[in-house]
Amino acid sequence: MNNYSEKFEKMRIAGKLAAQTLDMLTENIKEGISTAYIDKLGYEFIRDNGGYSAPLYYRGFNKSLCTSLNHVVCHGIPSEDRILEDGDAVNVDVTAILNEHYGDTSRMFCIGDSSIKLKNLVDATYEGMMKAILILKPGIKLGDIGFEIQSYVEEKGFSVVRDFCGHGISKSFHESPNILHYGSKNTGIEIKPGMTFTIEPMINAGKFGTKVLNDGWTAVTKDKSLSAQFEHTVGITENGYEIFTESVKGYSKPPYL
Ligand code: MF3
Ligand code: CO
Ligand code: CO
Repeated sequence: MNNYSEKFEKMRIAGKLAAQTLDMLTENIKEGISTAYIDKLGYEFIRDNGGYSAPLYYRGFNKSLCTSLNHVVCHGIPSEDRILEDGDAVNVDVTAILNEHYGDTSRMFCIGDSSIKLKNLVDATYEGMMKAILILKPGIKLGDIGFEIQSYVEEKGFSVVRDFCGHGISKSFHESPNILHYGSKNTGIEIKPGMTFTIEPMINAGKFGTKVLNDGWTAVTKDKSLSAQFEHTVGITENGYEIFTESVKGYSKPPYL
């Protein structure tokens, strides 16, 4: 036992619900459905399992999860009018609240046939996130996380979005510290046991610049290049880390089924 074991137990439960929501969606996302239907399925699954979808009414957001397609970097708003088509790539970002704790996770879904470029981008984004997670332990610095991701994806010719970052998370959605997905080794604050935060790199095929559309939410790449993202909620233990949002069904990265 330690002073964060109760917090971690709650984070584990909230994280598992968020992951199971994505697992359920994995089995339902296909060409021809709308992003609003993904939102409906996610909302109902979380509700039926005793939780609440954190994005719903968060700072005026009107849906239960985010669906970010192709050149949308993050915070895409589900819509009846957007039907998934062959070649699309969509990030679905689910945040569940359970026992007052938050689990925040996202994955990419590729519809039908994807270009090689898209597959490489999705793969690099997942691997970049995992490389950063694998080094987590007390004593490293926040800059080490950013360095792992940035050095890996830039080597492949991709870029790291600067305008959005990961965040502390536990009994509220967005807490300090900010987790930047770019940076230099041995800079920033030191990571300590009991910390809980997200790592959620947004990686662009082109330049890293973004802009937010007039709806006030949808962030897109300025150069209209493709963007991909994955997200896990993690906790720092005495000698390493725990991922709270791991897929229960082994649907960690595409192709899933
Ligand atoms: N889930 C997003 C994150 O990873 C935040 C979404 S806020 C919303 O931090 F309002 F757009 F849903
Ligand atoms: Co997040
Ligand atoms: Co999220």
